[in-house]
Amino acid sequence: MKVLVTGGAGYIGSVVAAQLLDAGHSVVIYDNLSKGSTHAVPVGAKLVVGDVGNRDRLRELFDAQEFDAVMHFAAWIEAGESMKEPERFFRNNSANALTLLEVMLEKGVKRFVFSSTAALFGDPERIPIEEDDPLRPTNAYGESKLLVEKMLSWFHRIHGLSYASLRYFNAAGATAERGEAHHPETHLIPLILQVAAGTRQSISIFGTDYNTPDGTCVRDYIHITDLASAHLLALDALAKRDDAAALIYNLGNGRGFSVREVIEAARRVTGHAIPAVENARRPGDPAVLVASSEKIRRELGWKPQYAELEAIIQSAWEWAQRNPNGYEG
Ligand code: UFG
Repeated sequence: MKVLVTGGAGYIGSVVAAQLLDAGHSVVIYDNLSKGSTHAVPVGAKLVVGDVGNRDRLRELFDAQEFDAVMHFAAWIEAGESMKEPERFFRNNSANALTLLEVMLEKGVKRFVFSSTAALFGDPERIPIEEDDPLRPTNAYGESKLLVEKMLSWFHRIHGLSYASLRYFNAAGATAERGEAHHPETHLIPLILQVAAGTRQSISIFGTDYNTPDGTCVRDYIHITDLASAHLLALDALAKRDDAAALIYNLGNGRGFSVREVIEAARRVTGHAIPAVENARRPGDPAVLVASSEKIRRELGWKPQYAELEAIIQSAWEWAQRNPNGYEG
């Protein structure tokens, strides 16, 4: 298939693009490089630099080539930031996704794989979280993605759009070539590894008074390779169906680790002390997010390879040591 990958120069999009190429698909990456890096773009993918909000540019792109599917990764991802400037998230994540979907419908492209998020669930009523559980985001980031899921559902019903919405829990880890390098970095594991590498003095623990066993937030960390493989299964499932599909899946490991446990695991993996400082809560953070991924295992035969947190951190640590400045040299 010929696949348009928006945000394909970013952390998750680039790993998916590489797997698509390995599986024999043809890949065009559309990325404005505001967060992504040309160094993450896999050999064999064509890079078009552009913004998802630019309707004319998208029209040109869809006129120049026929895509069988679109995978949409380009978005802001920092839940904490979304509680300071929600408008940026509604513009970039919700409004720009609508522009992309409108152009797709206009040009007759009807398969869409969407990067959704565990942040849709807010503070869940039960753990592990299943797909049908209530959607009540506690941050504007989650709401900006929920709006897109709602659009997808209506476009499916009204226009026959075939889509898969993949709700990522906490993406982590690295492949030999690609890893996590945000500027500025806000995510827990890469920040902890900066401390291990000596480029940061300490890791800040955001909140120690949550209703969890050790008072810190619990998350479900999923290796980037496993996350990526789910996208290829979703694409195949959409392609196999004659009718319009609406597939919604949670993607996690099904095991939760607290912030303190992640720091402890990183101490074991790296052999460094990693000083931690206790701080106030970060606004908008749910206490516990752990996925049930039974549905995608059952329906699409997804089999994650990395069950252990230490193996996930180990892969991130190896990449961080080889790339101390991320993709910037
Ligand atoms: N945390 C700290 N100190 C830090 C950074 C993070 O204690 O310096 C804590 C956070 O408060 C949170 C946990 O570590 O409890 C994980 O935080 P991240 O910022 O790494 O990730 P989030 O859980 O906030 O969000 C990530 C992605 C979202 C995605 C979500 C799904 O950024 O895109 O996982 O669970 F939606």
